[in-house]
Amino acid sequence: MQKPPIRQGGSAARVAVIPGDGIGKEVTPEALKVLKAVSAATGRSMEFVEFDWGADKFLREGVSLPDGAVEMLRDQFDAILFGALGDPRVPSNQHAADILLGLRFKLDLYVNARPVELLHQRLTPLLGRTEKDIRLMVFRENTEGLYVGVGGFFKKGTADEIAVQEDVNSRKGVERIIRFAFEYAQSKGLKRVCMSDKSNAMTFAHDLWQRVFKLVRQEYSGIESRHLYIDTLAMEIVRDPSLFDVIVTCNLFGDIISDLGAQLAGGLGLAPSGNIHPGQTSLFEPVHGSAPNIAGKGIANPLGSVLASAMMLEFLGWNMEAVALNRAVKAAVHENFVTPDLGGTHKTVEVGDWLAKLVSNASMTRPPTQSK
Ligand code: NAD
Ligand code: IPM
Ligand code: MN
Repeated sequence: MQKPPIRQGGSAARVAVIPGDGIGKEVTPEALKVLKAVSAATGRSMEFVEFDWGADKFLREGVSLPDGAVEMLRDQFDAILFGALGDPRVPSNQHAADILLGLRFKLDLYVNARPVELLHQRLTPLLGRTEKDIRLMVFRENTEGLYVGVGGFFKKGTADEIAVQEDVNSRKGVERIIRFAFEYAQSKGLKRVCMSDKSNAMTFAHDLWQRVFKLVRQEYSGIESRHLYIDTLAMEIVRDPSLFDVIVTCNLFGDIISDLGAQLAGGLGLAPSGNIHPGQTSLFEPVHGSAPNIAGKGIANPLGSVLASAMMLEFLGWNMEAVALNRAVKAAVHENFVTPDLGGTHKTVEVGDWLAKLVSNASMTRPPTQSK
């Protein structure tokens, strides 16, 4: 997933920050704190511009994703750090669909990369499993499927009502995510790719996934590729997660399997994700939502957002800085300097401060071959 900085001519990066709603507004400032600390420690500059898009603005002004926002982000920023969207005052979730799904679709962020990595044995609910057993990557198709909003109602509100939601799959869309999964496996020296669908029941849409998978896999003879139906994958990943290196699947199944994977590695509070189009402005966010049940209490886990920031740094080519963030998170977990969801007693802000301090004091040496 390592890409050169997408803006040419310098070591600075421009990052748009969208904290969003609920705990998005609590965890994102902590991730920013850690990003600022690492950039100060290595002397590389990162500029942040914050946007207040979310439920408050939507309820106040009726604006979700402002006009021109997509072009502005695409032209003026290298990456987007995103918190979460969702507010009980907006039961339709309209603003989240406009902003988050809007950015995924309109920036064509076709790769949703959701790594699952157990950082400490005590965090998994699976008896006897250790760090070496739970380390895999889920690639979720991020621009198509059941998410595109093709459908409608007929006789809405009557006893005869019909609701239709179409599953839209293009040959191009399926091929590029499957190919990305194989390329990723090859670049990381990973030996196993599993494609998951429901082609036994979804005989049109997922027949396409089957046919494309069979063609693409032929180009990667060094990689062991297999197919599992999504229901079987859900079972297998719990029975023996060590069987998987890379999983590639459609939009909806990827959403579900990545939450399942997150729990195998300690829960949603620790899970990061990247919404990526290689070489273009991409968006990084924790996998979790706005968690209204704990919002405002100061106990949200910021580690998912910090790990998402590390994915962003890697995407920008800031490898040394990415490693520093990953190491700091691992240290927090190992020293149990964590929030209550992971069994700790610390507040969101305390964890952010602790990570920022660690990152500031860490000795970092840039590998001589790494470009600035
Ligand atoms: P959620 O991820 O917000 O919360 C699920 C559970 O996990 C809750 O018990 C919550 O307290 C806990 N949790 C989540 N993140 C945590 C963290 N960082 N630290 C500690 N505990 C954490 O999912 P939900 O409750 O189903 O959804 C709430 C809202 O968020 C909804 O409006 C939903 O649509 C939205 N949502 C948004 C995103 C996003 O913006 N990417 C993702 C998922 C859900
Ligand atoms: C996620 C979320 C979103 C999704 C929701 C908020 C639309 O659950 O990012 O995983 O389903 O993609
Ligand atoms: Mn989700």
